[in-house]
Amino acid sequence: MSNIIYIGKKIPPYKKTIEVSSDKSLSIRTILLASQAMGISKISNLLQSDDVLNTLKTIKKLGINYKKKRNFFEINGYGLDGFKKKNITINAGNSGTLARLILGLLVKNKSKIKIIGDKSLSKRDFSRVTEPLKLFGANIKTKKNSLPVEIEGSEFLRPINYFENKGSAQCKSAVMFAAMNTPGITTISAKKSRNHTELLFKHLKIPIKIKFKNNRDLIEVKGLSQFKSFCYDVPGDISSSAFFIVLTLLSEKSKIKIKRINVNDSRIGIIKILNKMNSNIILKNKRTYKGEKIADIHVQSKKNLISINCPSSLNSAAIDEFLVIFLVAAKAKGVSKFNNLGELNKKESPRLNVAIKFLKMIGIKVTKKKDNIKIFGNPDLFLKGKYCVKNFLKDHRVFMMSCIAAVTFGGEWRIHNKDSINSSFPKFLKILKNLGADIK
Ligand code: S3P
Repeated sequence: MSNIIYIGKKIPPYKKTIEVSSDKSLSIRTILLASQAMGISKISNLLQSDDVLNTLKTIKKLGINYKKKRNFFEINGYGLDGFKKKNITINAGNSGTLARLILGLLVKNKSKIKIIGDKSLSKRDFSRVTEPLKLFGANIKTKKNSLPVEIEGSEFLRPINYFENKGSAQCKSAVMFAAMNTPGITTISAKKSRNHTELLFKHLKIPIKIKFKNNRDLIEVKGLSQFKSFCYDVPGDISSSAFFIVLTLLSEKSKIKIKRINVNDSRIGIIKILNKMNSNIILKNKRTYKGEKIADIHVQSKKNLISINCPSSLNSAAIDEFLVIFLVAAKAKGVSKFNNLGELNKKESPRLNVAIKFLKMIGIKVTKKKDNIKIFGNPDLFLKGKYCVKNFLKDHRVFMMSCIAAVTFGGEWRIHNKDSINSSFPKFLKILKNLGADIK
């Protein structure tokens, strides 16, 4: 089957309620934690995407059994450091979250485990997690700070003091996973980033204390000997919702309701940013589930979008959504400024550079100085030409962002690497077609 799609028409007006895929960060974290819990955990609404399936395959390879039931997965943990298989290779595919977090769980495992990944993951930096994990006492080798990484855990672990300065939830979480395996108290001073691991630790009664001081999270994790299995119902993913939020804002006379989305404060940067740009995105039916905030997201088409001078304090909470936020900036009145976005070039592809190339291709003026960009918006943006997107590292979010640009800005588009959506949001094209998009 062809891996290319063609779009030659804008999406007609729609009014619909949709459900997007489940949260990827929570799906991966709940599987990994269930693999360390004592007994059978039940996780419903797990995201069924390659990154999550690779997480299930990983725990299975390490000797943890799971069963797929009708609406949920059962994962049978043997407690902390309960991995049984030795000297194996784990293929994390495209998933940075899986590759980095599993390393945190392997600090105590006394066999050699090798982690490999696909071409995109193999280009990414792993020293950001291997350096702090070595301090616990694990023996770790990397190939020039990248994959393959080989880890051999130790029974003589010591707690560390870790200063996290990238706003990376993956680094923070890998250290927290190592800390729960290490006797004593590990302290982490972290720049704000998504806090799902902290909320899960609290819910699972893994000893954790958190204070917020001088704009940083001060986290203390105390090592423990075991924790109990659990049940979890994974909510919808704001990062997947982002494509439909922006689609609706940029389409004509359309409205959408997106059901049961995780709207944790550390994830709703996109909503704060777009509302500063004169959107009117509303959260309805707000409730809390096991520490996470959940709500339905209501959005409608919006003319008169305005530019933003985006506060860098929102960067981490919107880090996976900037590609589509830039599309809104392209259509907004005025010059939008986004600063300190170096981390965006460390993702599945160098997304800051890719976005600049993309915006220039559709005729938007963009300037870049260091990690800061200015996007000169054009409220009359209407494309007529032919456009082709070949996604060299098969970045799922680049593919989906290109589709949203194609169905809202016009023009004739050929977009490659359709299969990339399997990483995070396999039903993306189905939902887009159900809303009325003409995709071939
Ligand atoms: C994630 C954290 C973010 C994000 C990624 C998922 C997580 O990465 O970009 O898609 O689940 O912890 P960083 O921690 O590298 O910022």
